[in-house]
Amino acid sequence: MERTLILLKPDCVERRLCGKIISRFEDKGLNIVALKMLRVTPELSKQHYAEHVSKPFYPGLEAFITASPVVAMVLEGLEAIRVVREMLGATSGLKAAPGTIRGDYSSSRQMNLVHASDGPDAAAREISLYFKSTELCPYSPCLTPWLKAGDE
Ligand code: CMP
Repeated sequence: MERTLILLKPDCVERRLCGKIISRFEDKGLNIVALKMLRVTPELSKQHYAEHVSKPFYPGLEAFITASPVVAMVLEGLEAIRVVREMLGATSGLKAAPGTIRGDYSSSRQMNLVHASDGPDAAAREISLYFKSTELCPYSPCLTPWLKAGDE
C-alpha cells in the first residue's frame, strides 16, 4: 500500500468541484485516510513548493495557492502515487487527456485543480507537512475483497 498527499487547490474549492473530484478517487477504490480544509500560508507554500521557489512562475503560484482555502487529503491504495498522478493528467489542463481530472475540468497550467505527490520521497515529505501522524486514520474498508484479489 502507498500513501500520497492530495491538495484540492483554491480553484477547485471556489468552483465547487471538491465533491466530484473526491468521488473520482473514492470510485477508483482509494482510501481517504486523512482530510482537512486549511489556508496555505506563504511560509507553507515555500516549504511545499521548495523546488519551485526560485522559478519565475513562483510568485504567481504562491499568490494563487494562498488566495482561498484548500482541501488536503491523504489517499492510500496500491501504487497510489502513480495511479493518482495518472488520474490527474498532464500539468496543464489544456494538454491533459480527456477523461483525466484536469482534462475534464481545467483549461489552465496554474489553475489545474489538484496537486498530487510525484514520488515516494515527496509523498512522505508532503504528508508530514500537512498532517501530524495522529491525524491519519487508517482503516480496512469492508468492500476491499471486492476491489482486488487477495494476492494483489
Ligand atoms: P502542482 O502539481 O501543484 O506542482 C507545481 C505547480 O506549479 C503545478 O502544479 C502548477 O500549478 C504550477 N506550475 C508548473 N509549471 C508552471 C509554469 N510554467 N507556470 C505557472 N505555473 C506552473
